[in-house]
Amino acid sequence: MTKFVVEHLEPSMYKWCIIEYTHMSKRVGKANLMFTNVTAGAAKLKSLGDVRKDSIKDIPLKKACVLDPSAKKLLTPKEAKKFDYFIFGGILGDNPQRFRTKKLITSKLKLPAYNLGDKQMSTDTAVIVCKKIVDGTPLGKLKFAEEYEIEEEPGFYRILPYRYLVEKGKIVFAPNLKDFLSKLKPSV
Ligand SMILES: C[S@@+](CC[C@H](N)C(=O)[O-])C[C@H]1O[C@@H](n2cnc3c(N)ncnc32)[C@H](O)[C@@H]1O
Repeated sequence: MTKFVVEHLEPSMYKWCIIEYTHMSKRVGKANLMFTNVTAGAAKLKSLGDVRKDSIKDIPLKKACVLDPSAKKLLTPKEAKKFDYFIFGGILGDNPQRFRTKKLITSKLKLPAYNLGDKQMSTDTAVIVCKKIVDGTPLGKLKFAEEYEIEEEPGFYRILPYRYLVEKGKIVFAPNLKDFLSKLKPSV
């Protein structure tokens, strides 16, 4: 049994978060996904996984580890076999990084922590990549793009400076996120 646990840590249930959560749910399956620390917007996540109000800090889990970009050890398929629960920060990317995973999760839980490489990925990408490692594919066998560029209006580009998985030559990007970001004003 493998569960991917997302500790929601944004101050609100932003549409951007919901789009990423929907994407990961489609990829890893609703039955394998748990959202914790959901104090607002729980109804919007009901169809995506098991939704808990409690923080992961108050839910004792056996055989659990944290996925943290600042962790020293890389998650390998062999290491992944030791765990049933893989905990992620429900955190939108920030550049430069504020190391919120370390501050808000890793340092508060006495659990092993692993990285998925040294580049920051979106939460949905990290969950999908972790699932591939759990299923036996090492990180080194996966292909990545180091950023994603969106033309928001003619001549205006938003660059998301995060690492994205590439499958069959295409960047794996949450459906609807491009549309959502294109509709935001350039300054947002
Ligand atoms: C957008 S990242 C947030 C990174 C954030 N800037 C921070 O301060 O930690 C969202 C989540 O995806 C996971 N994640 C992203 N990239 C990762 C990596 N290279 N290694 C391990 N976990 C990663 C972590 O669980 C992280 O909390």
